[in-house]
Amino acid sequence: MRKINIAIDGPAGAGKSTVSKGCAVQLDYTYIDTGAMYRALSLKALRTGTPLDDGGKMTELLKAASIRLVGNPKVSEVYLDGEDVSEAIRTSEVDSVVSLTAAHLGVREEMALKQRRLAAEKGAVLDGRDIGTTILPDAELKIFLVASAEERALRRYKEVQERGAPADYDEIYEAIIHRDEFDKAREHSPLKKAEDAVEIDTTALTVPEVISRITALAEEKVNQSHDV
Ligand code: CDP
Ligand code: CDP
Repeated sequence: MRKINIAIDGPAGAGKSTVSKGCAVQLDYTYIDTGAMYRALSLKALRTGTPLDDGGKMTELLKAASIRLVGNPKVSEVYLDGEDVSEAIRTSEVDSVVSLTAAHLGVREEMALKQRRLAAEKGAVLDGRDIGTTILPDAELKIFLVASAEERALRRYKEVQERGAPADYDEIYEAIIHRDEFDKAREHSPLKKAEDAVEIDTTALTVPEVISRITALAEEKVNQSHDV
């Protein structure tokens, strides 16, 4: 069966990673979490005291770093210089600085090289902010996931609660809005729906519902290309 590449973009908490993993499992595709790469670089900057607002230093830090995404769709682990940082990159400290890391052109160019290499073989689901617009403008299927800010904050709030950590809904809501605004307003490959992306509002949908919509669209694309 011919394989395609799927780009899934959208704001924080829209369901990108959950749904991308689910689609990858169902289609037997590779899942590539591009946000995890920006998070890993942010963690390295925090640990080494590198100023996150210095684009040149952040780009050098990335060039010297080893960031690896490991695993199948069910287990996706992130390694930074050989250490499993899958959990360490999900803290609120990283949440609050990752948009700064992602705003630098040098960092984005370097990440783009790595991400395109990872998707060189068809059969990849990539999720992020600029996959459909910049990383894979020729992806056969582009999805832009959205959901209300209240719903997205509630989803994050529940995740934090489930981890047994203290959760403050208002704080999470503010942080999400702030990060979205920053990602949308930045100069280089901002968070934006690609013109040819299919928008899906997940506010009132379950995870399986979103996955089945996307896998159905993927199957359509594969069949269409067979007809040509
Ligand atoms: O999981 P969540 O949606 O909260 O975030 P993420 O996908 O882990 O991405 C974290 C941050 O990395 C985003 O807020 C963006 O600033 C940045 N990012 C990006 O600029 N481009 C991407 N392709 C992926 C993430
Ligand atoms: O990657 P992104 O930040 O877009 O979202 P996520 O990390 O996948 O988080 C979404 C959370 O909302 C997860 O806990 C999902 O179980 C839940 N959820 C969803 O993703 N999609 C829905 N339609 C409903 C709930």
